[in-house]
Amino acid sequence: MVSRVIPVDPFDLVIFGGTGDLAQRKILPALFRRFCAGQWPESARIIAAARSELSTDAFRKLVAESLRSYAPRRSGEVENLQGFLQRLDYVQLDALSTGGWDELAGKLTPDRVRAFYFSVGPSLFAPLAERIRAHALATKDTRIVVEKPFGHDLESARDLNATLAAHFYEGQIYRIDHYLGKETVQNLMAVRFGNMLFEPLWNSQYVDHIQITVAETVGVKGREDYYERAGAMRDMVQNHLMQLLCLIAMEPPAKFDPDAVRDEKLKVIRALDPVEPHHIVRGQFAAEADGSGYREVVGNPRSTTESYVALKAHISNWRWAGTPFYLRTGKQLVARSSVINVQFKDAPHSIFGEAAGRHANALSIRLQPNEGITLKVTIKEPGQGGMRLIDVPLDMSFAEALGPENQDPPDAYERLIMDVIRGNQTLFMRGDEVEAAWAWTDPIIAGWQARGDVPKPYDSGSTGPGDAELLMKRDGRHW
Ligand code: BG6
Repeated sequence: MVSRVIPVDPFDLVIFGGTGDLAQRKILPALFRRFCAGQWPESARIIAAARSELSTDAFRKLVAESLRSYAPRRSGEVENLQGFLQRLDYVQLDALSTGGWDELAGKLTPDRVRAFYFSVGPSLFAPLAERIRAHALATKDTRIVVEKPFGHDLESARDLNATLAAHFYEGQIYRIDHYLGKETVQNLMAVRFGNMLFEPLWNSQYVDHIQITVAETVGVKGREDYYERAGAMRDMVQNHLMQLLCLIAMEPPAKFDPDAVRDEKLKVIRALDPVEPHHIVRGQFAAEADGSGYREVVGNPRSTTESYVALKAHISNWRWAGTPFYLRTGKQLVARSSVINVQFKDAPHSIFGEAAGRHANALSIRLQPNEGITLKVTIKEPGQGGMRLIDVPLDMSFAEALGPENQDPPDAYERLIMDVIRGNQTLFMRGDEVEAAWAWTDPIIAGWQARGDVPKPYDSGSTGPGDAELLMKRDGRHW
């Protein structure tokens, strides 16, 4: 079962910020891998634009180096590497002045898909959008791609949306949340809506609660300034965890098309209750023996930025009233693990009596690593007199189930960039979705500020602050 590669139409992709970290680490390696997979037509071109004075040759050398680090398996294949580099061009350009724009215009091909990737800070979104218009670079087949952070709060997100809307219509704006590009995240929709088995039970009558965990071992080195201003709530919860919550909780869309899916996600966000202050735990990783606690890393001994959040959320609609959703995410934890647990209720009546104990099914969807699904089922404990029950896993690893030829699925950026070229917005956030997510997170952050809340310290390499365990324990549950 090898995935089919469907070639995309000819395109020109302009990457503003083409020499920057995101372009070199994620965008160009993703494009290279799709090139190797044969998904590009012959004539497709990438034009990097940045402020540095570089020749196209020097830019190609820079990219070759990056590919060796970030797409190592392929970059040894001389033919592919040279073929890819030949399709790269470079323009020295200043987003804030007129320099370089005519040269860029001269490199674009008429009558083909044209994508402008804003791989730059949000303060440059407006000047770039204006100049693309002013130089008449936007055709009917033009799309723009923007990355998070999409705003810092509701107000700034609204401003950004308004700025982009002044130059492009919503169908041209591709807001990336790279979690939506992950195969296993898309699989949440396949599991829910491709099987008869789960959907009838997917509601508060049968589901006791749902847990969404995105645990990371990485810290914040190299992005101290950004992270100190963002914290886990803005960096992870407002976007990635919110998207996972939407996919798990939404009503079945009538079809898998951009607005049908995004309408349903938006309804979930809008149905979220405000979070009670005692339903949130904030944490910050503390200094280890080598002195690398959060505050030391960011160089702010009084920092109150959280590197960990756990919270209990409620969705007030017919499907979910009464079923809490527990979300948690943190940096520098003991293991990298993103998993969603759907905990079903106990059977309404046990025919086996007290001695059999209480048992309930649970569905675990592992997003990364070791992608797969485990269903906890209850069976008879063998060899015992009477009827005693035990729980055993019905375990499925995608790697084993899909076979060796599918061990290396396209990464999130590969899928998302090709969707931009194809003009498919299903896996991108719509402007109203982003605003609704901020409308839910803003009061939480404002509450912390008003109360002068200080995050609870937790040990690096642990599972997070003890209070996160208490959040569950108080409800008679555990992570
Ligand atoms: C990014 C966050 O959006 O996602 C990072 O800014 C985080 O802080 C990263 O580490 C996690 O992505 P992934 O794909 O490694 O789970």
